[in-house]
Amino acid sequence: MPRLSPTSRLLVTGGAGFIGSAVCRSFAKKGWTVCNVDKLTYAANLDNLREVAGDSRYHFVHADICDRETMRTVFAEFQPDAVMHLAAESHVDRSIEDANAFVQTNVMGTVNLLQVALDYWIARDKLEEFRFHHVSTDEVYGDLPLDGGERFTEATSYNPSSPYSASKAASDFMAMSWHRTFGLPVVLSNCSNNYGPYQNKEKLIPLMIIQGLSGDFLPVYGNGKNVRDWLHVDDHVEALELVLTRGVIGHRYNIGGGNEWANIDVIKHICSYLDEYSSRFGSGSHHDLIRYVADRPGHDLRYAIDYTKLEREFGWRPRHDFKTGLSETVKWYIDNRWWWEHGQ
Ligand SMILES: NC(=O)c1ccc[n+]([C@@H]2O[C@H](COP(=O)([O-])OP(=O)(O)OC[C@H]3O[C@@H](n4cnc5c(N)ncnc54)[C@H](O)[C@@H]3O)[C@@H](O)[C@H]2O)c1
Repeated sequence: MPRLSPTSRLLVTGGAGFIGSAVCRSFAKKGWTVCNVDKLTYAANLDNLREVAGDSRYHFVHADICDRETMRTVFAEFQPDAVMHLAAESHVDRSIEDANAFVQTNVMGTVNLLQVALDYWIARDKLEEFRFHHVSTDEVYGDLPLDGGERFTEATSYNPSSPYSASKAASDFMAMSWHRTFGLPVVLSNCSNNYGPYQNKEKLIPLMIIQGLSGDFLPVYGNGKNVRDWLHVDDHVEALELVLTRGVIGHRYNIGGGNEWANIDVIKHICSYLDEYSSRFGSGSHHDLIRYVADRPGHDLRYAIDYTKLEREFGWRPRHDFKTGLSETVKWYIDNRWWWEHGQ
């Protein structure tokens, strides 16, 4: 059976965002020919792609995945061997303020892309190695009790809490239905919270680092005890490549970091690293900036991913130990002020 390989052509959606740009950088460096389709919303930053912008194997198309005609043209001209679909509205707080863009891009945009991909795949005589990889979140599973040892497996029922996770759940069902109803070769992955360089400053870890560097308060939702399972973006990209190239059609794969941390402990560690690496806050400690604020409505208590399937089938394990990864991330934001001061 023909296999996707580093000589293949990969269409990435949302490649100017945090995870998508890491995918574009990694795949282009490995020799894949990559076409990045991105609408360039507020969450995008083309500076994330400076390393590959001049590479002849990297192409960029400024477009909306909801625009069917443009997507048809992109498929016809680029002739992808596979699609990795990451384009999404991704911030839970924004979805609570206004869910419309989430339904539009995450649900309607995904349906549009699935249909265009299906028509293209059929027109290419159902290209054997073709894959549509839909990238999703563990938030579709809802949450877990704080005190239990339970983890989400691929068999856990969906029970999304926020408009964001509900829109991702809908898109997951749509992707799987395009496989079961029309035979499109879909693979799906659900990952936990990512962290690392180039993450938009609205997300917890960069927000705390940047607020801390600026001497601003560090807002902690509720009592700060909510637990997330932190996955380094580079570990995630390695897992995505395995799911794309070796995943079984119609299967889903959980991708987790094996790093369960309460938000308040993450923030305290960030403060300690900032105290160690940055002298900008005068004589005080960054810990003094922590402020507890009203909790997010519907705030999920705990996420924890069981990634046994990925480990058993492909030997994948996250390589980053969280404290080291977090410390390197703090250093990255200190060393790359240009990126967050001017780029977003
Ligand atoms: N960041 C995480 O921790 C995390 C965790 C689990 C799952 N995910 C999923 O991974 C994917 C990528 O997440 P991220 O954190 O990199 O997101 P991000 O918000 O950083 O980037 C999203 C990108 O999608 C683009 N985009 C948005 N709407 C579009 C549209 N209609 N057409 C074309 N492009 C559009 C944006 O311009 C942006 O570049 C998302 O599908 C998200 O649901 C993220």
